[in-house]
Amino acid sequence: MTNLIAANWKMFKGPAETLEFFDRFEAPDGVDVVICPPFVSLEAAVGEEWTIYAQNVHWAAEGAFTGETSVQMLVELGVQGAIVGHSERRQWFGETDETVHARCEAALEGGLGVIACVGETEAEREAGETEAVLHRQVVAIPRHDQLVIAYEPVWAIGTGKTATPEIAQEAHALIKSLHDTRVLYGGSVKPENAAELLAQPDVDGALVGGASLDPESFAAICRAAVA
Ligand code: PGA
Repeated sequence: MTNLIAANWKMFKGPAETLEFFDRFEAPDGVDVVICPPFVSLEAAVGEEWTIYAQNVHWAAEGAFTGETSVQMLVELGVQGAIVGHSERRQWFGETDETVHARCEAALEGGLGVIACVGETEAEREAGETEAVLHRQVVAIPRHDQLVIAYEPVWAIGTGKTATPEIAQEAHALIKSLHDTRVLYGGSVKPENAAELLAQPDVDGALVGGASLDPESFAAICRAAVA
């Protein structure tokens, strides 16, 4: 199966820096690449040759939802999908399994692809709750062929602490036993550790934050996904 490597730029890169990235970014054949810029940079990004996803999407077609963006608005712009339920949204912006479900459903119904994120916190892992947390989060995610799941242990995001390939494989196998879909790994993926993570049988790609901001380092991860 072809690996999917997605760049989650979070709140980095306005339109000018977005264009600078694309001037320097090259990916090899044999890997599916998705780039997720901030909302204000989506219009600049969709003019390029890559598949562009937003970092969130609302469930309503329109309405009094200050600060939110609808599926139809993204489709009009040429955006092809969205990340839903990233742990930073769950942690800081009140995202719940219910809102994740609603956002996924609306996006899929509107023809967008979805990268739905799940993952346990450090406290949950230490308390032996990883399996229960993943189970709860994964069953809330709708089944659809345009949806992939990203397993992102919260303790590994932006911390430099990567899950070992064994920890990732174990979680991915659990997720796949609950939901028959591609499962990406996310959390401090870098050019140096990408190959061994992607070599695991149930790791089907990566969701990359920090290391996706630099076109050369993101390209190196994409190359590791082909090898
Ligand atoms: P990181 O972020 O690669 O910087 O750890 C991954 C993510 O949050 O999607």
